[in-house]
Amino acid sequence: MENRTIIQTTNLTRRYNHLPAVDNLNFEVKEGEIFGFLGPNGAGKTTTLLMLLGLSRPSEGSSRVCGLDPLRKAKEVKRLVGYLPENIGFYGDLDAVQNLEYVADLNGLGRGITSKKIEELLELVGLKQDAHKKVAAFSRGMKQRLGFAELLIKDPEVLFLDEPTLGLDPDGAIRIINLIGSLNRDRKITVLISSHNLYQVQKISHRVGIMIKGKMVAEGSVESLAEEKFGVNEKEYSLEEVYMKYFQEV
Ligand SMILES: Nc1ncnc2c1ncn2[C@@H]1O[C@H](COP(=O)(O)OP(=O)(O)OP(=O)(O)O)[C@@H](O)[C@H]1O
Ligand SMILES: [Mg+2]
Repeated sequence: MENRTIIQTTNLTRRYNHLPAVDNLNFEVKEGEIFGFLGPNGAGKTTTLLMLLGLSRPSEGSSRVCGLDPLRKAKEVKRLVGYLPENIGFYGDLDAVQNLEYVADLNGLGRGITSKKIEELLELVGLKQDAHKKVAAFSRGMKQRLGFAELLIKDPEVLFLDEPTLGLDPDGAIRIINLIGSLNRDRKITVLISSHNLYQVQKISHRVGIMIKGKMVAEGSVESLAEEKFGVNEKEYSLEEVYMKYFQEV
C-alpha cells in the first residue's frame, strides 16, 4: 500500500513587499519519511514551515498537513506537529522540569501522566542529571535537547525541525541526528528537517528537496538526484556534491 501523504503544497507562494520568498512551491512528504529540506540562506525554508503550521498566510496556493488545511485547522495541525523553531525560547528562571510542565499545561495534558513522561523524555535526550537546573544556565546544546523533549511531550506524528543541530558541537549534533533517526524508526514519526549540514542530513534522510529562490529545484533520494545530474556511475556521490551541482546551475 502506498504511504499516506503527510505534507503537500500546491503552488504555495508567499510574497513580502511584492517579492516572492516562496514561489509556486510544490512538494510532498510521505508518512514515515525523513525529508531533508535544503537550500541556501534566504531560500524560503522557514517561511514555508511557518505556512505549513498556519503561522503565516500564503499569498497564493495552499498546503495540507496530515490532510488538514493549516489555515483552517491550525489547532489540529499544531497538535499533530512538533515544531522546533530556529531559535527556541525557554523560561530561564525555571528549571528543565518546570519548563516541560509549563508546555504540558499549555497542551492540556494532565499533571499525573506528565511527570512520569517528563522524566522519561529528559532521560531520552540525555538531560536527566540537569532536570532541576535553571535553563538560564544551560548551554546551547542542552537547550536544543530540551527543545526535543518539549516537542515530544504531546506525542507528535510529525516533526518540523528548523536547523536542529545549529551551533552544536560534533558530539551534540550526532546525538540529535541519532535521536531523530530513532524517533523515525521506533515511533514512525515523519520528519521534515531543514539544515545546512549536508553530511548529517544525508545520514538520516530518505529523500531531500533543494529549494533555491523560493522554488524546489530538486526532490528525491540522493542517489536519484546524483543520477539525474551525473548519470549512472560507479561512484557514490555525496549530498554536498549533488547540492552544489544544482546550486551552481540555477
Ligand atoms: N517577516 C518578513 N518580512 C520580510 N521579508 C521576510 C520576512 N521573513 C522572511 N523574509 C524574506 O524571505 C526570504 C526567505 O526567508 P526564509 O527565512 O524563509 O529563508 P530560509 O530558507 O529559512 O533561510 P536560512 O537558511 O537563512 O534560515 C528572505 O529573502 C527573507 O529576507
Ligand atoms: Mg530559516
